[in-house]
Amino acid sequence: GYLAVHYGTKTTRKHQKKEKIDKYLYSMRFSDDTVKDIMNRFRRDMENGLGRDTGPTATVKMLPTFVRAIPDGSEKGDFIALDLGGSNFRILRVKVTQDKKQPVQMESQVYETPDDIIHGSGSRLFAHVADCLGDFMEKQKIKDKKLPVGFTFSFPCAQTKLDEAVLLTWTKKFRASGVEGMDVVNLLNRAIKKRGDYEADIMAVVNDTVGTMMTCGFDDQRCEVGVIIGTGTNACYMEELRHIDQVEGDEGRMCINTEWGAFGDDGSLEDIRTEFDREIDRGSINPGKQLFEKMASGMYMGELVRLILVKMAKEGLLFEGRITPELLTKGKIETKHVSAIENKEGLKKCMEILTRLGVEPSDEDCLAVQHVCTIVSFRSANLVASTLGGILARLKESKGVARLRTTVGIDGSLYKMHPQYARRLHKTVRRLVPDSDVRFLLSESGSAKGAAMVTAVAYRLTEQARQ
Ligand code: GLC
Repeated sequence: GYLAVHYGTKTTRKHQKKEKIDKYLYSMRFSDDTVKDIMNRFRRDMENGLGRDTGPTATVKMLPTFVRAIPDGSEKGDFIALDLGGSNFRILRVKVTQDKKQPVQMESQVYETPDDIIHGSGSRLFAHVADCLGDFMEKQKIKDKKLPVGFTFSFPCAQTKLDEAVLLTWTKKFRASGVEGMDVVNLLNRAIKKRGDYEADIMAVVNDTVGTMMTCGFDDQRCEVGVIIGTGTNACYMEELRHIDQVEGDEGRMCINTEWGAFGDDGSLEDIRTEFDREIDRGSINPGKQLFEKMASGMYMGELVRLILVKMAKEGLLFEGRITPELLTKGKIETKHVSAIENKEGLKKCMEILTRLGVEPSDEDCLAVQHVCTIVSFRSANLVASTLGGILARLKESKGVARLRTTVGIDGSLYKMHPQYARRLHKTVRRLVPDSDVRFLLSESGSAKGAAMVTAVAYRLTEQARQ
């Protein structure tokens, strides 16, 4: 099956314990058939999202991005990139030259975005972004210049052109008021004007998946898919324009932001959701939304593990039934802990982490908890493999080739930090889409470089139009 845990022939106590947990978490361990089934459900949802009649109410939104091509290498210039909505708020200066050895030079700074700002009013949030940008330009000594800006904004947005993006709904940790339904370019421009001490020309808004695809596309022309597995999870890919009913024209391709995090919001994944997934959802700031994301992404994985441990302890299956206030505290187990527990020396780490929670774990408890982590993170990799497999199968079909040769640009804290996640994901995807050569390309420099690339292309086109 897809959960390749082998026990050998000797049935020791250790193995009995593992088997017990396997049974306990049976519904989190997917068979080959389940993974394929989820892939097919996702393929149907993609079709629905693209269709003229089904699109407006579809669960998987399939948003046109107005990005029509990956960089062709002729881009150049001096750009600012803003990156909001991932684990950090970053501002970058990206210089793109025709230098063969080092075509892209970047300098970046991370800025804090405290919870009271991402949960406060939208005008405060954008004032904060404008303040940070002012600070950055000051430090770079470019306050007197009006540089083109690319904005990586990692949330679902309706776009009718590159430099306009209406936020449909906040996801992940964000919920600043008065932003949903508004064009974020306009909000940022207003905040910059209000300061009045510098100018900026926001030329493009891109999702982080699109930024990732473009970043990787700079190094590999075959890149036509972008995936993020971090705080949230999502993907974009290049779709034939003739299949995108919402956009005029039939020639060429356009990048589609799938927003697969919302997969399941119409109830289509109810049979695989567990009591733990429901509890996560109930305790979230957006109940009923982003149900796929809540099963798979980094923002929720540690919490999923914690909820499972609480229940097992309550039933006397762990820690001799000891339950502590720490164990009962939301957020006490984070995804980075899950990664550490599954790493080399993971049992030692596990002991440390559980000891901090005051549950006085035995060696056997640590083994058991490690196994719980494996099941939860493996399920995430299987889920993402299903949806990514759906995209790749679609690409293969629309190209009408016997063998799909393609590159997936990929990024995100969970994918990068977890010791086994990438390998499991790659393996399952390749199994799901036979007759394919899929290259996974880690985006080394993040999605903001891609935003600068999109801006560079937009800039080149407007400059050409002016001449
Ligand atoms: C959430 C957002 C999506 C983003 C993803 C990864 O799913 O809705 O736009 O791409 O997180 O950051």
